Amino acid sequence: QGAENPPASNPCPTLQRKVKNLQGSVLILILDLLEDGFGEHPFYHCLIAEVPKEGQTGSSCIVGYAMYYFTYDPWIGKLLYLEDFYVMEPYRGLGIGSEILKTLSQIAIKTNCSCMHFLVVIWNKPSIEYYVRRGALDLSTEEGWHLFRFDKENLLRMASGE
Ligand SMILES: CC(C)(COP(=O)(O)OP(=O)(O)OC[C@H]1O[C@@H](n2cnc3c(N)ncnc32)[C@H](O)[C@@H]1OP(=O)(O)O)[C@@H](O)C(=O)NCCC(=O)NCCS
Repeated sequence: QGAENPPASNPCPTLQRKVKNLQGSVLILILDLLEDGFGEHPFYHCLIAEVPKEGQTGSSCIVGYAMYYFTYDPWIGKLLYLEDFYVMEPYRGLGIGSEILKTLSQIAIKTNCSCMHFLVVIWNKPSIEYYVRRGALDLSTEEGWHLFRFDKENLLRMASGE
């Protein structure tokens, strides 16, 4: 589901619920997610996986999603950045994740991206194995890249020229 076409099933509550489950508190509002993804200049796109609701013909619920956007590298050009990838626990191991990765790969190829980048925290061994089995390279060990962050305080300080 592209951000240009607001989905019939809105993924934002699912995204926010997942963030809440993982972190205990929500840092972003559904309104922000809606505006940032489905406004005039979308910052991200979403693919959603839906399954039919039990005993309710015609209705479905969201059980997984991938959030992605496009970014650019002066050496390799366009790349697809997979920001978030999640399938609800009872629906794991059914091939939904593989189907999402297949669609993402098709999007990347169609839009002429040279690769797909994503972050995985080092303790998420099952996911690391999942990606490595599909051919992913660990750029930290292979090329020595480290992820850095300037937090809001730093930004404010630098922006004000302090
Ligand atoms: C990573 C994730 C999105 C994969 O989704 P999925 O729908 O389970 O993916 P698939 O069904 O295509 O494949 C699941 C893999 O786990 C194995 N598996 C089998 N049963 C499983 C189960 N009950 N739960 C999880 N994985 C299972 C499968 O064998 C398969 O491995 P293989 O295809 O490499 O052999 C999902 O596990 C997830 O949401 N994990 C938690 C969030 C997360 O860590 N996301 C990635 C952050 S970088």
